[in-house]
Amino acid sequence: MESTNFKHIESLCASEAKIRLSTPAHKIPIVASSAFKFNSIEEGIEIFKNQPGDHVYTRYGNPTVEAVAQKIADLEAFGLNESAFGLLTSSGMAAINLTLQTLLGPGDKIITQGNLYGGTTELFLKVFGKNQIETLISDFNNPEELEKLGGTDPKQKKLVYIETPANPTLQCYNLEEIGKACKKFNYYFVVDNTFATPILQQPLKFLADVVVHSTTKYLHGHGASTGGAIVTTDFNLHKRIWDCLKLSGSNSNPFDAWLINIGLKTLSIRMLKQSEHALQLATALELMPKIKRVFYPGLPSNNSHTLASKQMKAFGAIVSFEVGESLEDAIRFCNALKHCAMAPSLGETDTMVLHPATMSHLKIPKEQRLKYDIKDSLIRFSIGLEHVEDILDDIKQALSVM
Ligand SMILES: Cc1ncc(COP(=O)(O)O)c(C=O)c1O
Repeated sequence: MESTNFKHIESLCASEAKIRLSTPAHKIPIVASSAFKFNSIEEGIEIFKNQPGDHVYTRYGNPTVEAVAQKIADLEAFGLNESAFGLLTSSGMAAINLTLQTLLGPGDKIITQGNLYGGTTELFLKVFGKNQIETLISDFNNPEELEKLGGTDPKQKKLVYIETPANPTLQCYNLEEIGKACKKFNYYFVVDNTFATPILQQPLKFLADVVVHSTTKYLHGHGASTGGAIVTTDFNLHKRIWDCLKLSGSNSNPFDAWLINIGLKTLSIRMLKQSEHALQLATALELMPKIKRVFYPGLPSNNSHTLASKQMKAFGAIVSFEVGESLEDAIRFCNALKHCAMAPSLGETDTMVLHPATMSHLKIPKEQRLKYDIKDSLIRFSIGLEHVEDILDDIKQALSVM
């Protein structure tokens, strides 16, 4: 019924406003609609039959969300001879959970590093562990060890999960060697590319089956949106993960997607500039006597330097370091910072500080934490776009109270 034909004002109230689409908008629109309208029942039946495809319901798919997911997929596949397909999720954890839930079942195995983001380790041990999916730790120095860890049961699926550089010690893992080993042994290969982003590193080049992201970090880059992304070049796998996304309701939404889109426009310039700042800062920190150890793959003294120089375009914008010897030293230092924000995230335009032992890695058993260099005195800095001298001055004045 045309709105002008309503007999009653409440019907006009309840109806949709009419939009005039004459000249196309320069920015993608936020298509904030939970459902999409069919011209006829026949059209609706056809569209429902061919999912994923045309739009029916935002949990299934939404034009704004899909546009941004595809842009992230295009960035991950940039310069490759293959197309990639993307999905946006409600968070980075949802992206990891959906991917592994799609690929694995009871009795299968995850092989991963011991120094993942704390939340990911917890997800593997608590949630997947409860579903009889075992998590095994490797240092990934020897591909033959991977074969041994995987075992000989051909029915059991194995998935190698890598985060490089790792949060918060920035240890890097050899994507090329691990990718080749996964193909040889027929294991799935999943990489969390949150810290590097496709600007600095493209795991699809190294045979990753799936790349996951917390878009909450650099991809959005401004700290106003929570989300995740899943990228693969395998369309069938993309459809299987989409099915799990749709049924579990782990989708993103048009507002968050739109915010990510705005952030993506400056991703390249932010990643390169923030990495440059991080290198300058790490170089200066290494010379300060009150700082015991600096973790940054851009430093020639770092044990990941040669590998990172090979597989990354720049070394990223996270620098971790030990202040003093103890938890008390770390607390005193953090509380003395005036400019750098104590905030438990990373990848934004301003410098952010986190204390892994009491925050991101709180639930990781202390022995495991210490084994991977996450001491009580370790502080993680996500370096922003401020002038390096201002960041350094804040660190120096905070060190002076110790
Ligand atoms: C490397 C990495 N992956 C995944 C996540 C989880 O992302 P989200 O907080 O968006 O769920 C984080 C969070 O800090 C992270 O650092």
